[in-house]
Amino acid sequence: MVNSSSSGLPRRVVVLGTGGTIAGRAASSDDNIGYTAAQVSVGDLLGDIEAPAGVTLEAEQVAQVDSKDMSFAIWQQLARRCAHWLAQPDVAGVVITHGTDTIEETAFFLHSVLASSKPVVLTCAMRPATALSPDGPQNVRDAIGVAATRGASGVTVVCAGAIHSGVDIQKVHTYRLDAFASGDAGPVGYVEEGELRLVRPWPEGGGMSVGKLFEAAELQWPRVEIVMSHAGASGAVVEALSQAGGPDPLRGLVLATTGNGTLHHALEAAALKAQDAGIAVLRATRCSNGRILPKTGDLLRDAGELTPVKARIALVLELLG
Ligand code: SIN
Repeated sequence: MVNSSSSGLPRRVVVLGTGGTIAGRAASSDDNIGYTAAQVSVGDLLGDIEAPAGVTLEAEQVAQVDSKDMSFAIWQQLARRCAHWLAQPDVAGVVITHGTDTIEETAFFLHSVLASSKPVVLTCAMRPATALSPDGPQNVRDAIGVAATRGASGVTVVCAGAIHSGVDIQKVHTYRLDAFASGDAGPVGYVEEGELRLVRPWPEGGGMSVGKLFEAAELQWPRVEIVMSHAGASGAVVEALSQAGGPDPLRGLVLATTGNGTLHHALEAAALKAQDAGIAVLRATRCSNGRILPKTGDLLRDAGELTPVKARIALVLELLG
């Protein structure tokens, strides 16, 4: 699947651990849901996984969290460690082990901020490491294969034999091992017995490289909240958020809209008021497929095909400058 470098020198794939179910432990091997996430070290996750020919593996624990608790501070550290390793000439790519719950957010964040075009491949598992039949080891093996593949680029997520782009991926199932989909775009390709079958081009690497993210020791991340439009919605949440003030005042608002960017009229009125008061407002559809098609006369910006959680990341980065 993977060749050694033309110089004959070994190439490295660096595996960064962040936690998740893939590193989870349960009391019994037949318990796939009553486990504690983020227990097993990334070094142990590599266990018996053999590196492809001509490739050596390196492991580094960046964090150890259940990904529902993912934070800006961990993202900043992760982006820095990715940038560090990707800048090493002999590093072919980086793999990140991560929880499934927010993997799409971390993937989109890294896609947005990493300047390198080398592959960054996130992977995960739906069953803990202690399961009778864990899915993690195969996913890690596949991810390493993708990261070591010549010509691979951009940020992808490998799970259950599919390669998804960090822009399109969404978690769509609570339990199945194949818990992800890439909407209208579909996966980038598949890993089948170590062989890659691409069905569309690799995602482009090289995001905006937010300087502050890599330079500032402590960053003041702008507060951006998501508010959903639904039957019977009101402007109360937006009004409360806008008026909260304090040391971390609201800077941005993502509205999870119905259909093609529509909002309950009461929520829309409050959002327009917030926008007039200087809060950045972005509409993102709550539909899992499709995008918002802009219309003449729209008063609130839209996030196109981005889901609300990804639109929030885009807005945070925009406000960070
Ligand atoms: C997590 O996201 O860290 C826990 C759930 C999972 O990985 O499936």
